[in-house]
Amino acid sequence: MARIAVVAGDGIGPEVVAQARRVLDAVLPGVQATEYDLGAARWHRTGEVLPDSVLAELAGHDAILLGAVGDPTVPPGVLERGLLLKLRFAFDQYVNLRPSRLWPGVAGPLGNVKPGEVDLVVVREGTEGLYAGAGGSLHRDTPAEVATEESLNTRHGVERVIRDAFARAGRRERRKVTLVHKTNVLTHAGSLWARAFDAVAAEHPDVATEYQHVDAAAMFLVTQPQRYDVVVTDNLFGDILTDIAAAVTGGIGLAASGCINPEGAYPSMFEPVHGSAPDIAGQGVADPVAAVLSVALLLEQLGHAEAATRVNAAVAAELAGRTPGVALRTAEVGDRLVAHAVA
Ligand code: NAD
Ligand code: IPM
Ligand code: MN
Repeated sequence: MARIAVVAGDGIGPEVVAQARRVLDAVLPGVQATEYDLGAARWHRTGEVLPDSVLAELAGHDAILLGAVGDPTVPPGVLERGLLLKLRFAFDQYVNLRPSRLWPGVAGPLGNVKPGEVDLVVVREGTEGLYAGAGGSLHRDTPAEVATEESLNTRHGVERVIRDAFARAGRRERRKVTLVHKTNVLTHAGSLWARAFDAVAAEHPDVATEYQHVDAAAMFLVTQPQRYDVVVTDNLFGDILTDIAAAVTGGIGLAASGCINPEGAYPSMFEPVHGSAPDIAGQGVADPVAAVLSVALLLEQLGHAEAATRVNAAVAAELAGRTPGVALRTAEVGDRLVAHAVA
């Protein structure tokens, strides 16, 4: 039976993960879930972010379900880098998979887009780029202060995520991959991405390709999100574009993601795209659908396709039944999702 490590984390993380676990238990009875106490509370209590012993234990699981990390009482980066990015990097989760669908019943903000018309997936590179942590600062707190952040791009790292995007596109109906970068300005990394993309594209004559600069892609995601099938892009561009994609398909409360190590050498990690939402934490009003859809991605990755389909169907039923403008309660959404999942 699948062994899942659960890192609920901070803010609304535990609230949405509680509902995601109920749905997981409903569709996969007997799943072994082990909770790990990581995040702001542990840091305040012990000064620890992610001890090596815990990292080693997490490595022994089939997958990780994560809520959110980050808290206003902890200096920026301590948890985001020390916990979330450390997991993505240590477990070589180079495919950060972020699907966006406009579900029937969801009132997106765009008048010209009908449900079913948006069904895209961003394959965001997960282990390199500006997230690598290269750079530094000089003359701190003086008028001469200088800070640099360097984007790390390796042929190996870029090519493998592009390969994954083409493989995914080949299994989809429209079979199209859009490379998003900024080759007109970032001429070093942009050239590497473009050449790797062209080389992989040449091996996939059945997959249509296009290239867009990231600023144009940000615009087209808002004006014509229907045009995208698979989008492959670097770590930071993907971070930003997937919040936009979430916003145009009903909001960040519905956006799921998988941080995937396709080879299975390490556990993959599944988490909502959203963060700890300190502004609504503790109120019981966070939408758990993003976390629940992340469970569907987890189940797919572990080969439980039927259970994943049931989770997606439960979400579809929940979203179809929503009344715009009516506030939701996290636990009540969980009740309905569980009821749909076992029906
Ligand atoms: P956020 O995603 O936490 O919140 C942005 C806005 O979206 C807020 O108004 C919030 O209330 C709303 N929102 C988010 N999730 C929601 C949900 N499920 N239902 C309803 N509304 C929801 O982003 P932020 O405010 O920029 O960041 C807050 C903290 O979370 C920071 O510490 C940040 O570093 C961290 N963060 C963590 C992750 C992660 O763990 N993967 C992702 C993003 C941000
Ligand atoms: C996300 C988040 C993270 C990221 C942060 C919290 C490190 O914004 O998962 O999208 O930038 O990847
Ligand atoms: Mn983000």
